[in-house]
Amino acid sequence: MVWNFEQLLMDARQELEGIKTAKALEEFRVKYLGKKGVIQQVYASLAQASAEEKPLIGKQANIFKNEVSGLFEQRKKDVEGLEKQQHRRILDVSLPGVSQPVGVRHVLNQTIDQICGIFEGFGFVIEEGPEVETEFHNFDALNIPKDHPSRDGFDTFYVDEKDPDDKKLNQLLRSQTSPVQIRVMKAHTPPLAVVVPGRVYRPDAVDASHSFMFHQIEGLLVDKHVRFSDLKGLIEAFLKRLFGEEITMRFRPHFFPFTEPSAEVDVSCYICKGKGCSACKRTGWIEVMGCGMVHPKVFEAAGYPKGKYTGLAFGLGVERLTMLKYGIHDIRLFFENDLRFLKQF
Ligand code: DAH
Repeated sequence: MVWNFEQLLMDARQELEGIKTAKALEEFRVKYLGKKGVIQQVYASLAQASAEEKPLIGKQANIFKNEVSGLFEQRKKDVEGLEKQQHRRILDVSLPGVSQPVGVRHVLNQTIDQICGIFEGFGFVIEEGPEVETEFHNFDALNIPKDHPSRDGFDTFYVDEKDPDDKKLNQLLRSQTSPVQIRVMKAHTPPLAVVVPGRVYRPDAVDASHSFMFHQIEGLLVDKHVRFSDLKGLIEAFLKRLFGEEITMRFRPHFFPFTEPSAEVDVSCYICKGKGCSACKRTGWIEVMGCGMVHPKVFEAAGYPKGKYTGLAFGLGVERLTMLKYGIHDIRLFFENDLRFLKQF
């Protein structure tokens, strides 16, 4: 048997140079230095060699073995170094971490959740209504006829749609959540108690305290023998839960077409505790909501029998309450999507 030791060594060297992992290194060891490896085959072949050849091949075999072993040991060290380096790269604890930003609910939704949660605790059910509303629900059914002056400011944002008979539908973006009162009353028989959060639209020029779109929460409770004292007790319990037990409140007579009597509710300024400061315009009071007893005309529009039920209703502005709660001075901040602002809540 003739061995081309020069070629064998070149092959081994080339193979070793390409090896980068401990696994490939082990495969190389088995192939060349293992029990059935190339070197053992060389030694085994000596048995067939002639007496003159034997010492020569033996000597060359020894040199080959030493060379391969030496190259193998060297490569082993290199590969170990390489792997350590890679390991270090994976586990470099000094690298800055990959941050996983955690979002929060929009602050207005947080206020809506909190307020609706309080009323759910009182047994109210959450309802919703359409943002594109009919003139009938937004105005007429709420005792705001065509020529009523309180309609002027909101009579806008009409959607030009027609029904299948090509009649104008008289739909508009609702200016208040109160039309849902009518929808709820038409769909359910009393006793009923609902809160209705949602967006409303007004033709207001945008500034620090006005927006053409904002959020309201409407409340409605209808049953037999609901009294004004029920309204007062309910609103007081709600406001104390929202602003704290220590606040006081007052009802101011007001006018809303869909309630009679109607009132606006103020809470004692939680900043100056009623002494008078810039937040309450030196009055010691902050207006927070409108309310009243459901007007008989509204029951009539909902199709309820005359005189059978009484009810209480209320409506509040979510942006306004959120601004009061957190001392936010500009309503536009809610809608600009500036994460520096939104992340604070
Ligand atoms: N809809 C009224 C508004 O937009 C708010 C309101 C006042 C709602 C009194 C009511 C209520 O249900 O009883 O200004």
